[in-house]
Amino acid sequence: MDLFRKKSIEELIRVSKRGRVLSKDLTAWDLTLLGIGAVIGTGIFVLTGTGAVTAGPGLVLSFVIAGVAAALSALSYSEFASMVPVSGSVYTYTYATLGEIIAWLVGWNLILEYLLVTSTVSVGWSGYFQSLLKGVTGLELPAALTAAPGGEGSLFNLPAFLVVILITFLLARGITESKRVNNIMVVIKTLVIILFIVVGINYVRPENWHPFFPFGTTGVFNAGALVFFAFVGFDAVAAAAEETKNPGRDLPRGIIYSLGICTLLYVIVSAVMTGIVPYAKFEGVDHPVSLALSYAGLDWMAGIVNLGAILGMTTVMLVMLYGQTRIFFSMSRDGLLPEFLSSVHPRFQTPFGATWFLGIIAALIGGLLPLERLAELVNIGTLTAFTFVSVGVLVLRKTEPELKRPFKVPFTPWIPLLAILMNLFLMSRLDTITWTAFLIWVIIGVLIYFTFSRRHSNLNQEH
Ligand code: ALA
Repeated sequence: MDLFRKKSIEELIRVSKRGRVLSKDLTAWDLTLLGIGAVIGTGIFVLTGTGAVTAGPGLVLSFVIAGVAAALSALSYSEFASMVPVSGSVYTYTYATLGEIIAWLVGWNLILEYLLVTSTVSVGWSGYFQSLLKGVTGLELPAALTAAPGGEGSLFNLPAFLVVILITFLLARGITESKRVNNIMVVIKTLVIILFIVVGINYVRPENWHPFFPFGTTGVFNAGALVFFAFVGFDAVAAAAEETKNPGRDLPRGIIYSLGICTLLYVIVSAVMTGIVPYAKFEGVDHPVSLALSYAGLDWMAGIVNLGAILGMTTVMLVMLYGQTRIFFSMSRDGLLPEFLSSVHPRFQTPFGATWFLGIIAALIGGLLPLERLAELVNIGTLTAFTFVSVGVLVLRKTEPELKRPFKVPFTPWIPLLAILMNLFLMSRLDTITWTAFLIWVIIGVLIYFTFSRRHSNLNQEH
């Protein structure tokens, strides 16, 4: 049997046109908001703290590097998404281009991206929630319930667990965040960040920027590999391809605009933060942006930022958990995962089984693992999946040169090659523990493929 058997692109497009057709009304602007909605979250509100401790003020450059890596991958993503404008994700694209086993591995890595993002963001959410709770009511949770095991007397991160369960409940009942709610949340979190910049800049003390690179390029690159997390999620834009008015033009624009705006905001925020607070003071802090404000004596504003961060991170979790259920849904419909994962609830019309299955796992992981570990795992999984996208673009240009490509990556093969190199470089900067966990994950994936997925794949019926 052929490990690299493929689905045909024509077939994918035909299926998307059969039956239920989604209305095509999203513009480049809607897509930009969607992208920002999925992207701004724990990366900027939490990981900037660890990033600052790792790179010092040079964190600014780490964000630029991570942003460029994301943007280069985004170009390849856009070529795929505009060529195969069916809702789905890189899993579907690779099924059509690189074949089943690679598609399986990509889908398997996307679990690290989508599922673990939800857990990671829940931990970030919990930090801000606790800070807000304390600020408003003076209440503090018992230490045992504030964080993952391993901290000072902590055993379980209860707020992180509960928020994911709540989101799962909403998703299972079919309350996906509507465009309007998403847009309002995006505006709120962007305003909070702009407010931080505009007010915070007055409290910057340039001497805090000296030395700018206390840990040299090593610090900058290592922090870059960590804060890549802040850009994860823009691929949610590509998932909306089927609902876009003019995918050839608007999809790449939506992706590039949202990444551009986020990179700019991230760079300025990290400059202002490290300008207000000497970087070493961020050690172990789980709400660094509001800490910077308190440090400047602006406690009232720290409260506003806490609230904005909490709302902002909630949308990220909604979008990503939603995305994960849809990926599982497709993989199960293709026969690669058990059938109950693509069962649809008769009343709510949602993939009920998949949603609860994934929601409970994401909630438990959020309760039990610390943030940086999780974020690095997300990054390694995402970077792997993105690398396959760029490889896919190169392969497809050779194997199917005639296919219509409404958007083409400029300067091919150089840009996809550069994307691949940058992704691999960032991966190489991640911790050994992360690599070990990742390799174990991949081995489990391969085992499942050969014991289950391969035998149950729908493609078996076609041969
Ligand atoms: N980029 C998203 C965040 O930072 C996942 O929360």
